[in-house]
Amino acid sequence: MAKKKIAVLTGGGDAPGLNAVIYTLVRACHSMFDCEMIGYKFGYRGMYLNDFVKLDRASTTGILRRGGSILYNSNKDNLFNYTVVENGVEVQKDVSDIAIQNMKNEGVDTLVVLGGDGTLTSARDFYRRGFNVIGVPKTIDNDLPATEATFGFDTAVNIVAENLGRLHTTAESHHRVIVVEVMGRSAGWICLHAGIAGSADVIIIPEIPYSVDGIVKKIAERDAQGKPFTIVAVTEGACGEDGKPLVSKFVKGSPDAERFGGVAKYIADQVEARIKDKHEVRHCVLGHIQRGGDTSPADRILSARYGFKAAEMIRDGEFGKMVCLKAGKMDSVTLEEVLGSGETGETAKGGAKTVDPNGELVKVARAMGISFAER
Ligand code: F6P
Repeated sequence: MAKKKIAVLTGGGDAPGLNAVIYTLVRACHSMFDCEMIGYKFGYRGMYLNDFVKLDRASTTGILRRGGSILYNSNKDNLFNYTVVENGVEVQKDVSDIAIQNMKNEGVDTLVVLGGDGTLTSARDFYRRGFNVIGVPKTIDNDLPATEATFGFDTAVNIVAENLGRLHTTAESHHRVIVVEVMGRSAGWICLHAGIAGSADVIIIPEIPYSVDGIVKKIAERDAQGKPFTIVAVTEGACGEDGKPLVSKFVKGSPDAERFGGVAKYIADQVEARIKDKHEVRHCVLGHIQRGGDTSPADRILSARYGFKAAEMIRDGEFGKMVCLKAGKMDSVTLEEVLGSGETGETAKGGAKTVDPNGELVKVARAMGISFAER
């Protein structure tokens, strides 16, 4: 096998486990075949600007446990539809040729892309342009349908469950209600898993519309049981009474431009207006704490499996595919299958893998006495 030159990049938001994939991929590639590796900085932007670092055992030592990405992340750099300033005016251009030329100049023959829907759509498009590409799926939300599990999710669940535990002691001391907002744009996996593990009394997920009445009912039930404090865990993408999630900001150039947020404060205000003679209500937004710090051991292992499988796929010439977990085993699926055959440059909007409101885990939670605050 001829010597290979492999480039790696991490696109989209960061997720704990990206570094563990890089760590394992670098070591597995070097042990399987003769190669050189580089990492583009800030996702596709680094490809366009030819901004990269060398990846080898020395430059990746000690990163297995670290969250974030040593290659940095960007979620607004679609090179097939890139924002450039010409004569003082912002215009959208296809600059993919420049990136391809940069890779050719460096002798890069294989590209490994770690990212979510948006990043992987561009990976598919570079494959269409004749490049050897392998995708590795990433999201802490665990909502990608083409794989059973994504790294970062377990870490987020651990962080949320731990913090729900912390909030219990202070809520109990003050006889308060605390509403905790957790990540999950359109899927309630983090909230459901962490809510169960962290003993939330109410779990609110986008898949089950909530009502303030439902929350107030649970608080009254707990009061009657001699438990005058309540923890409500709510997903940022939960739908308010009008059936829409609350939007906190817009990120220009990002495939999912709307950022959801503010639902914990909204709920806290609504609930307090109804029960202020009995309890004070506070809210707490865990935000990016859920993606920070060390990667959980389970995510390190899952990431290592993804990195190893990607190296095997490079060795075996399996390109235009994404690594996935299927029936508990590492497998692969074509990028076209995952992202559809839409126009090059247009970000695919694959349906999210959402929580089944009648699924096992929801039933388990209900049996434990957890309320979903249904309308
Ligand atoms: O998709 C992962 C995620 O962490 C979501 O849960 C959250 O809505 C979003 O990213 C936040 O994005 P940003 O890092 O741009 O604030």
